[in-house]
Amino acid sequence: MSANREHFSSRLGFILAAAGSAVGIGNLVGFPVSATKNGGGAFLIVYALFVAFICLPVMMAEMAMGRKAQKDPYGAYKALSGGDKRWSIAGALSVLTPFMIAVFYMVITVWIFGYLAQTAMGNLDALANPNHFGQFINQSSVFWYMLLVGVIVNLILVGGVKEGIEKAAKFLMPSLFVLLIGLVVYVLTLDNAMAGVRYYIVPDFSKMDASVLNGALSQAFFSLSLGMGILMTYASYISKNDDIVGGAKMVALTDSLVAFIAGLMVLPAIFSFNPATNTDELSESSVSMIFEFLPKILLALQTDIGYLGASIVAFIFFLLVFFAAITSLVSIVEVPTAALMEEKCISRKKALLILAATTGLLTVLCTMSFGMVDWLTKFVSYGGADKSLFDLVYDVFYDTILPLNGLMVCLFVIYRWKKSNLNAELEQGCDKYKGSFGEKYVNFSLSTFIPVVLLVIFINTVATKFF
Ligand code: PHE
Repeated sequence: MSANREHFSSRLGFILAAAGSAVGIGNLVGFPVSATKNGGGAFLIVYALFVAFICLPVMMAEMAMGRKAQKDPYGAYKALSGGDKRWSIAGALSVLTPFMIAVFYMVITVWIFGYLAQTAMGNLDALANPNHFGQFINQSSVFWYMLLVGVIVNLILVGGVKEGIEKAAKFLMPSLFVLLIGLVVYVLTLDNAMAGVRYYIVPDFSKMDASVLNGALSQAFFSLSLGMGILMTYASYISKNDDIVGGAKMVALTDSLVAFIAGLMVLPAIFSFNPATNTDELSESSVSMIFEFLPKILLALQTDIGYLGASIVAFIFFLLVFFAAITSLVSIVEVPTAALMEEKCISRKKALLILAATTGLLTVLCTMSFGMVDWLTKFVSYGGADKSLFDLVYDVFYDTILPLNGLMVCLFVIYRWKKSNLNAELEQGCDKYKGSFGEKYVNFSLSTFIPVVLLVIFINTVATKFF
């Protein structure tokens, strides 16, 4: 391990930080709702299979690359390919992607923070108004919230790996878990809670079709923070004796468990609000779910526990989502930070300043693309519709480039870096991995069907989104 490279202080610190990255807005709201709409228990089973058999090998490959190279993703592709120029495109994409996803994630995190602040100020009734969200995202106050979120993220990152990222994760992740369990326990006591649980868990295999499968895999991929260079970067901060295989399993398990448990919070709340809810009415988009639908439900709790009680529950909910979002945001900004520090030989502070200025500017522009500024709102046109700058960033980087980055990781580790090196890195710190079924499976899957599946998703997205 390089002497002057920053490191996590322990394996637990690494796992918490990586799980902090994985557990995000997608887990808490997106996952439960898409599970309920798309076959309940049937979706849960398919999702779990995708995580175990497709995502986990990719996660292990990303982690192995990062730890072996002890570098940011750009440096890792360069070092492990022996300076092969062709792979520098993959390296560059795995830094550009998190940079751009940081922008879109920041926009949403700022809204969450705004809603958190407003529940703290006792404005839950205003939040529940159907027009509120549309007005809120076009008010100048969002820029103040943006400034505050930017300061929080930078205060964590300036502390570095051990004192910043790891300390924040050690506080935020257990807190998140306590808040989540607290809300689940409360929500399960509501009338009709069990109707929601039933919809969530009872399998309906008739809903399974190609688009549901595609959606489930994309969701799992994003949820585990794959294809963003994050796990490569975080794994470059762990010691050679740490067990990557076990670490990856823990991260995948924690992420999936939080997503599953979140369903026991969100769905009983929805069904208790309206026992006749038809799952077709549930919005697929996490954004409208969090900012338009859930505030209404949270406000309705006042008939049970009074306005103050409902406001406290709402505050806890937004705090939970905010904690989840902050640890994800930190992880994604750390990738370009590490890349700038290492590739340009500059200090962490300087790298953060450059990123604050550049991502800050883009975040402002994206925020203004929801109606504040006309040309940003109708920025481009493709797929038969006008798209805003925010839509463009989302469609290109989240929907399209993520599976492409995953594909490149598979091709790189198997055909360029070579299986034997991948295996040697994964065996280090995990003796029993050598020669195991898991090792054989990882080798087989990464060299055969996983890249094919990712390629199909990539082509399908390009064809349906942009043409
Ligand atoms: N796993 C995160 C989520 O589910 C996704 C993410 C990670 C987004 C890191 C940005 C940064 O929300």
